[in-house]
Amino acid sequence: MVKEKVDCIDCGTEYCPCKLAESGECILCSQLQGKCFCDCLNWKGVCIYQEFHYNGMKAKEGRKAITCNVISSEIIENELIMIKINAPHKLALDLVKPGSYIFIRTDENHFFDVPISIMSSDIENNIITLVIEVRGVKTKRLKDIKAGGTIVIRGPYWNGIFGLDNVLGQRDGNCLVLGRGIGLAPMMPVIRKLVANKNEVDLYADIIPFKNNFAKKYVEEFGIFPRQTILLDKGKLSEEGRFIIRNSIKDKNIKLIHLAGADILTYSVIEYLDELDRGDILLSCCNNFKMCCGEGVCGACTARFSGHRVKRFCKLQSDPRSIFEGRRLI
Ligand code: FES
Repeated sequence: MVKEKVDCIDCGTEYCPCKLAESGECILCSQLQGKCFCDCLNWKGVCIYQEFHYNGMKAKEGRKAITCNVISSEIIENELIMIKINAPHKLALDLVKPGSYIFIRTDENHFFDVPISIMSSDIENNIITLVIEVRGVKTKRLKDIKAGGTIVIRGPYWNGIFGLDNVLGQRDGNCLVLGRGIGLAPMMPVIRKLVANKNEVDLYADIIPFKNNFAKKYVEEFGIFPRQTILLDKGKLSEEGRFIIRNSIKDKNIKLIHLAGADILTYSVIEYLDELDRGDILLSCCNNFKMCCGEGVCGACTARFSGHRVKRFCKLQSDPRSIFEGRRLI
């Protein structure tokens, strides 16, 4: 039997053990799932059960909401806002990692908490940059944010991308990044990490539904010049997309593809790589599950898999291929 590789994004952090451990639902620890033997799903150098025991058999306190000052809020194009926030230094440091996100709201009503990916976290000046696509009730309120005002932040959270180990373990290689729409924002910390690990990164950006590539200036700071393309055509991987992947594999021997877009993009690329019989190419992608609490409690991010398994994707870290296997997307 092949054991599926799973991990909990919070394991070993100051937020572990969490409420899941208290209720016998820990993602990794068999003892905190009510079993009487030790069979940790993914040993990360820390015993969650021991931490739980030392903490008086209860969960750690968890993330707090804090009020931060807004440095600037700019409508960069129709329904697209860029916000810069002054954050505490510790939070700015915690939000540098690929996949980082926070919940934000404009007032005390926590029903309006909305998860937003970090586009960049400047640890010298403690400035967090977010780009938000205005889509619904929660994001419409964010249009009211003004420079000099305040915003309520809850975080840090880190499970904004799947295949995180593939990104962190990639060194001195060639990587391909395919970004689309608002996915260009959470793509930035991934590119930053890949460049820091001395990888050569090729970026192809499909800016639909926007008019301009809002991330262009930021990626160029890393010496990467994005090429504009169309990646999806009628819900399928476009001819251009296929051409880019096929040639990048042939000419550059790419080891990793990061997919910064909707699930349909990730799913189409996995299908195409299967067609090419290139299951060896590592993948990472955006976590597009709907999130509400981020703490494994509300159930908004859950999906059901074979064997009556329920997975909480605000916490569970896994490889994109195992997440998309057998799931219906449209
Ligand atoms: S977002 Fe609430 S359980 Fe995952």
